[in-house]
Amino acid sequence: MSDAVAVAFSALKFHADALAQTRTRDLFAENPARFKNFSVKLDDFLFDFSKHKITRETLTLLASLAEARKFDARRDALFAGEAVNATERRAAMHMALRDLSQRPLIVGGENVRPLIEAEREKVFAFARAARSGDARGATGLPFTDVVNIGIGGSDLGPAMATRALSPYGAGGPRMHFVSNVDGADLADTLQNLDLARTLFIVSSKTFTTQETMANAASARARVVAALGEAAVKSHFAAVSTRLDKVAEFGIDPTRVFGFWDWVGGRYSLWSSIGLALAISIGSENFTQFLQGGYDIDEHFRDAPFERNIPTLMGLLGVWHRNVLGRCAQAVIPYDQRLARFPAYLQQLDMESNGKSVTRDGAPTPYETGPVIFGEPGTNGQHAFFQLLHQGTDVIPIDFLVAAEPTAADSHHHALLFANCLAQAEAFMRGRTLNEAKAQLRAQGLSEEEIERLAPHKVFPGDRPSSVFLYRRLDPRTLGRLVALYEHKVFTQSVIWDINPFDQWGVELGKELANRLAPIVENRDASTAGLDASTTGLIDW
Ligand code: F6P
Repeated sequence: MSDAVAVAFSALKFHADALAQTRTRDLFAENPARFKNFSVKLDDFLFDFSKHKITRETLTLLASLAEARKFDARRDALFAGEAVNATERRAAMHMALRDLSQRPLIVGGENVRPLIEAEREKVFAFARAARSGDARGATGLPFTDVVNIGIGGSDLGPAMATRALSPYGAGGPRMHFVSNVDGADLADTLQNLDLARTLFIVSSKTFTTQETMANAASARARVVAALGEAAVKSHFAAVSTRLDKVAEFGIDPTRVFGFWDWVGGRYSLWSSIGLALAISIGSENFTQFLQGGYDIDEHFRDAPFERNIPTLMGLLGVWHRNVLGRCAQAVIPYDQRLARFPAYLQQLDMESNGKSVTRDGAPTPYETGPVIFGEPGTNGQHAFFQLLHQGTDVIPIDFLVAAEPTAADSHHHALLFANCLAQAEAFMRGRTLNEAKAQLRAQGLSEEEIERLAPHKVFPGDRPSSVFLYRRLDPRTLGRLVALYEHKVFTQSVIWDINPFDQWGVELGKELANRLAPIVENRDASTAGLDASTTGLIDW
């Protein structure tokens, strides 16, 4: 760790110690402008971070840490298309896919704008045809159902976004997502579908992923059995960077959509991997989604530190993770259609920042990415919120909520919204022992009962949360949310000096699964080299 970084971290620790006895509720009481001072507006989008136990000084110290890491230069290198993913010698230029300006987009010295626009136009043309019924199956019927076969970034993004934007999918085909190698996933999905009216999209950056190839082969076999070999070209489309491998599968080249190795799997929703989403919501709405991502890119590049939402998100996470030792981060959308957003963020954040070595391969001297988890509110309130309120670990929370209902029922929305703000307030404010006793006394309980119950009714408070408040969950807002978290993850990777764009940690399990599969299927009897537990389990 460089001296400047070590100094910045020590200053933050010293500052945290000084704040230890302060309560967030007192910071609110002392400063009536706290909400204004610790929130940022981006037109109708609001990021409120006033419920973290921080002061102006905290932000100044976090800014010094970012400076010690030469944050601006690292961000500029990312946007310049430099090979920031050093282990794979690649750029990470997913921002190019949503750059709606006319400026050249340079990756590895080449202007990739014409490539991006041509491919996007192909995707849009096919999406329009699939939505309108112009694209048809082998028997001449239009598609009523689309099944995206992919996993990880080739599944979570399209699945999350299609669900989030389901009101924009009216009039299009029904969308389904198959990811798990467990045959139950494909079987259950196909159970009620008419293959003559079903389009499959095989989505895989590498076109080698075991799960996707197994599901694609089974789906192909089902189509061939029902409609004949010649039907494959009418019922399959593919998205990949490996067009050579796609060709072997027998997919009609006019239904094959490419992207590039400088787009990471978990950053690929903006590329042709978004085909399922484009079919679902149409090309105009998809463009709005891109616009949302582009809004945030511009904001991330231009907004000053104290008003830069993704930078603040990232540095607040560092404050919690490294200075205060908090190991998890909850993401709670009070927005049922964002039900898959926490799962999407798990891949984005944990596959990016779940690393133990710095960019030059040395062990990291401090903790990196936290565990990300979440469920929609209000459901989580009746499940795991108990631990968040009174458990021994402090877990920072992101609340996401819309100002306006998307469903017609404003009463439901009022309840939802009230619950979201009530939880954020309860986590911050807490309830002291004296307050608990006073409440029980007001209920008329005996002093003995009060003494017995009061400790159980104490809420420590000072449980930090951010609130993301947007007008409604439309395509542009969703694009903003996704890009905000992408840049938050990048910001943290800079502070931790790790490469957020590779994922070597997924390799070992893949290799061993390939080794075990023939043994499990009795195609290979050699268990030499396996540990006793693994052989014992296979034998059993
Ligand atoms: O196993 C991890 C991973 O490589 C992810 O990074 C990726 O999103 C997913 O697998 C799927 O990969 P592909 O799109 O190549 O099938």
